[in-house]
Amino acid sequence: WEEEEEERLRQIAVPPEPKSKTITPLKCPPLGLESHRVEDDQLLASSQSHHGFVAQRGRLNMQGSDNEDDLYGGAWCAEPEEQNHWFEVDARREVEFSGVITQGRNSEQHEDFVSSYFVAFSNDSRDWTVLHDGYAEWLFYGNVDKDTPVMSQFNAPVVARYIRILPQSWNGSLCLRAEILACQLPRVEQHSFNEVNPSDDLDFRHHNYKDMRQMMKVINEECPHITRIYNIGKSSQGLKMYAMEISDNPGEHETGEPEFRYTAGLHGNEALGRELLLLLMQFLCKEYNDENPRVRRLVDGVRIHLVPSLNPDAYELAFEMGSEMGNWALGHWTEEGYDIFQNFPDLNSILWGAEDRGWIPRIVPNHHIPLPENTLNGSLAVETKAIISWMQRSPFVLGANLQGGEKLVAYPFDMQRPPVSRQNEGALRETPDDAMFRWLAMSYAHSHLTMTETYRGSCHGDDVTGGQGITNRASWKPVVGSMNDFSYLHTNCFELSIFLGCDKFPHESELPLEWENNREALLSFIEQVHRGIKGVVRDVEGNPLPNATVTVEGIRHDVRTAAGGDYWRLLNPGEYRVTAKADGYTPQTRLCMVGYDSGATPCSFTLAKSNWDRIKQIMSLNGRRPIRLVTRNNVVKTTTAAPTPTAGVDDHAIAQKAERLRRLRLMRLRRLRLQRQRASLTTTPATTTTTTTTTTTTPPPETERTTSWYDSWFPVDSWSTENPFDSINFDSVPTQDYPFEYTID
Ligand SMILES: *[C@@H]1O[C@H](CO)[C@@H](O)[C@H](O)[C@H]1NC(C)=O
Ligand SMILES: *[C@@H]1O[C@H](CO)[C@@H](O)[C@H](O)[C@H]1NC(C)=O
Ligand SMILES: *[C@@H]1O[C@H](CO)[C@@H](O)[C@H](O)[C@H]1NC(C)=O
Ligand SMILES: *[C@@H]1O[C@H](CO)[C@@H](O)[C@H](O)[C@H]1NC(C)=O
Repeated sequence: WEEEEEERLRQIAVPPEPKSKTITPLKCPPLGLESHRVEDDQLLASSQSHHGFVAQRGRLNMQGSDNEDDLYGGAWCAEPEEQNHWFEVDARREVEFSGVITQGRNSEQHEDFVSSYFVAFSNDSRDWTVLHDGYAEWLFYGNVDKDTPVMSQFNAPVVARYIRILPQSWNGSLCLRAEILACQLPRVEQHSFNEVNPSDDLDFRHHNYKDMRQMMKVINEECPHITRIYNIGKSSQGLKMYAMEISDNPGEHETGEPEFRYTAGLHGNEALGRELLLLLMQFLCKEYNDENPRVRRLVDGVRIHLVPSLNPDAYELAFEMGSEMGNWALGHWTEEGYDIFQNFPDLNSILWGAEDRGWIPRIVPNHHIPLPENTLNGSLAVETKAIISWMQRSPFVLGANLQGGEKLVAYPFDMQRPPVSRQNEGALRETPDDAMFRWLAMSYAHSHLTMTETYRGSCHGDDVTGGQGITNRASWKPVVGSMNDFSYLHTNCFELSIFLGCDKFPHESELPLEWENNREALLSFIEQVHRGIKGVVRDVEGNPLPNATVTVEGIRHDVRTAAGGDYWRLLNPGEYRVTAKADGYTPQTRLCMVGYDSGATPCSFTLAKSNWDRIKQIMSLNGRRPIRLVTRNNVVKTTTAAPTPTAGVDDHAIAQKAERLRRLRLMRLRRLRLQRQRASLTTTPATTTTTTTTTTTTPPPETERTTSWYDSWFPVDSWSTENPFDSINFDSVPTQDYPFEYTID
């Protein structure tokens, strides 16, 4: 694959060199206005135009709220009546300032930005020295639009504690967002909060497509027995979406072993997730080789799939601009303009529409909702299609997509359900597995070193998580067609979104700290795949039953068994009545306990064949005509004469029907003979008319003939509420697996 890739890389147009040469690499890393490492009390300004535009809003890439009147403006904006304007950052200790990055105001309507400014320094915030270029005060040219960050670097670093930006000219109102570039001085380095001594010796760099590929290859060579590289498809520009599988038996699904996935880079400019997954690969490989018992357990017990870049085209775009210089949106979408995260078919509307009509679960299933017919026509990105087919190929149990721009874990539903008067508010957003999803979200947020430190609010406004670092997406920022909702409704997999931090594309120097912040959370989230119950559904001969449905009483969301008959059902501790059903088999119900210990509770099923499939065969012989026709009267008629022909029924059909009825009669006779044989062992011939040995009520001999012949063919309790033969058409008979056609208008 390496050579093939090299060849392909040669073919795609390499961006011309000069473009990347014009962007000088940052001499010093950002101080952390964007990442919020610089705290609110370190920011100060000469004035503000409105209480929503205070200095604290002047962080690079700050997003304003849509409501212009509230507290959350999209920049620091100065009071126009004032004479002298400045925006000040206190580094809290002497540092070497090497440059500033400025950006205009985030706003739909306004074109506000600073087009030129001076820079001044101070050690005490009283005496200020304006930067000279040797002849005069050095006027820096600022922005030309509101979104694009513009960097100015000083010709020599300046040692000071405070820095001020002094705007001299601007377009529209004076509004500014900024980042400051500064190096920590050597002597304070040990205590510097920029400095982390990572406990792991890993490759803390940003990796572009080629480097990522190389990195994965190296890991694969170091750990050939537990890793496998594959790709899940290609981007629209032909870059591959590489996946690293980590498992004790890479390349195959082992019966009973759950599959887990982390994906990142759905939005190409959200680059931290990509690097965290590359670090996680390195970490798992290294620690496995060093016989770290926890990692061994993880790798041996889970098939882990890590996909660092689901939108590789856009990442290349953002990477080229560099970590601070892309704006908030550059590289968010695919080449073709799709936001992959919300580009999935909307199955929520199908589910909810059916629910409102009372069609769930008898007409429309509450899980594995099929793709709408025209889904694959047009409105899906090639990347999305590749992801969907990947999701369908493996029996994933749990997954998370790593995103950026906020710091919290969001769990589905992601789409806001249109209000129906009789429903309460909460039900509009909750999945039937809400408690489990909350737990899963918590397990990440609370293992993360800083995600629950929400006292300073979120990245762009108030804390929406109630101090927990988690939120239901639909009640926060609802989206339609999200990967999470799709995964939950179309597959067995519970999928969440993990927003890793305010800075979508953190500077390389931040990576060690971010790894420290996330390492435990990344590991313990994978371990949650072992929560709940798991087992295998088999028939009485011990053959696995794929595609069987496993239902937990009280949770209106089923899962299905995989190809090996194995299933996993994530559940919080408790006692559950679990039922396994498969086409052609009698359902079985068991009581299964989930404890607080780690490890899924085994809960397997052995299903006996029902006669249902025989009935189906018989019915299909008759062109799937309603079996209701088989009443006693009809039987009598056929035995005496051909049934009255009805319009549209030709001779062939009549012949077929006669043949079918003849077979039915033979079968029934055979059964009666069998019963008679059995009964004759103990009783008189009178009992030979008893219909059945399994039904709970035995009809008296007189009524036997009018009793439907099928009554004895399957247990009464599984059909206690409904006569399946009342339906017009076989296709809409509610079998256990709901093979229905349906349409929603
Ligand atoms: C701040 O103090 C340092 C010495 O500690 C000095 O080198 C530097 O020039 C001072 N900066 C300003 C702006 O006065
Ligand atoms: C400057 O602002 C005005 C409105 O205040 C706007 O019409 C104009 O397009 C802006 N100029 C640029 C270069 O964006
Ligand atoms: C999908 O597209 C193909 C050709 O582009 C067309 O023939 C087909 O009818 C479309 N199907 C639907 C359901 O729109
Ligand atoms: C699983 O069952 C459903 C419904 O009965 C059916 O539509 C689907 O084709 C089955 N899938 C497989 C792989 O057998």
